[in-house]
Amino acid sequence: MELFERWESEIRGYSRAYPTVFTKASNARQFDEQGRSYIDFFAGAGVLNFGHNNPRMKEALIRFIEADGVAHSLDMATDVKREFIRAFVDTIIKPRNWDYRLQFMGPTGTNAVEAALKLARRVTGRSHVIAFSQGFHGMTLGSLACTANQYFRNAAGVPLNHVSHVPFETPNGCGMGCLNTLRETLENSSSGVDAPAAFIVEPLQAEGGVNIASREWLLQLQQLARDTGALLIFDDIQAGCGRTGQYFSFDGMGLDPDIICLAKGIGGYGTPLAMNLVKPEHDAHWQPGEHTGTFRGQGFSFVAGREALRYFEDDALMRQTRERGESVHARLKALAETYTAAGFEARGKGMMQALDVVEGTRAKAIARECFERGLLVGPCGVGGRVVKLIPPLTIPDDDLEQGLRLLEDAVHHVMEAEDA
Ligand SMILES: Cc1ncc(COP(=O)(O)O)c(C=O)c1O
Repeated sequence: MELFERWESEIRGYSRAYPTVFTKASNARQFDEQGRSYIDFFAGAGVLNFGHNNPRMKEALIRFIEADGVAHSLDMATDVKREFIRAFVDTIIKPRNWDYRLQFMGPTGTNAVEAALKLARRVTGRSHVIAFSQGFHGMTLGSLACTANQYFRNAAGVPLNHVSHVPFETPNGCGMGCLNTLRETLENSSSGVDAPAAFIVEPLQAEGGVNIASREWLLQLQQLARDTGALLIFDDIQAGCGRTGQYFSFDGMGLDPDIICLAKGIGGYGTPLAMNLVKPEHDAHWQPGEHTGTFRGQGFSFVAGREALRYFEDDALMRQTRERGESVHARLKALAETYTAAGFEARGKGMMQALDVVEGTRAKAIARECFERGLLVGPCGVGGRVVKLIPPLTIPDDDLEQGLRLLEDAVHHVMEAEDA
């Protein structure tokens, strides 16, 4: 690790949490230089839904490279981009009877959010955006203004303007009550609060601590957006692409967002890709080439992302994800019940599950113990108090079982050490 410590920026994060040099990875396992194997319950912060080096995608990528496919194309039309768009429309859009335009931009989540905010402001002619407590939307100035976490906000160096935050539904939110208050505020022409261009929300907050909004709350938020002439932006960058046992985290709730932001898992292989689904009437407000991004035409991501979409041609992987999610949840619930006195809580949906251990230092100690035992997990939530489990959806049963046991051991170890 010396070379990293000497030469890489102080900004390093995960290499401090997992202080080893990784050399290989396959499905839900990573291996380091010492030949140690780690079960990956972190999956690139929600990127690797289909595992490391997914064999179908690897094969498709090798074929693409050998055939001199167009790896980089800005937003020129290519055969692989056409295949990706066709597969996405056929597999995801049409079965839902939706009509969205697909907008590509720079390849990371924050690029998707920036584009969504820009368009919402353009469409409405308003600047104020309403975001939610614990929300995480990225690190560039527009998206950072929507991100709630103070540690990240403090690094901005300039005022993060034009966004206000109101309480999310859970946890420690105020449920419907806060939305009702917000409605009263926005309907009161003397409240001093500007009409918003958009509401931006993660229907399932990931980095914010795995907080799940209810259908009722989201429907009410949608109604509020409609009534106030604002756009409803769903950021499904981490919870989408199959993570929850359905393609979108809000599937089946009868919701109709104006813009859906996707990134992370959509490129399939860990190859970067971001994409917004935009209602055509809003998309019509863009002028050609007005929002660009050099890497918005990633051939590798289209090839691997197209393979990823095959997992959604039937319900097999999603059904398995829902079933496994329930069994992982049951294990975490049992673990939480052992430490009820300490206030532990299990929550999650599909294969985004979490154990809230109340204290950030405790979650960090648990993650550290997991690492020592050969399991990668990442803390999230307010003060880092939540241990989040987001293994690849393709994780073999044995690895899932072994990973859960390692987590249980680590939690017991840390709690016994606290008692000692
Ligand atoms: C919900 C959500 N939105 C946006 C982002 C930002 O994505 P990126 O780090 O790729 O810019 C993240 C990243 O974790 C996220 O979880």
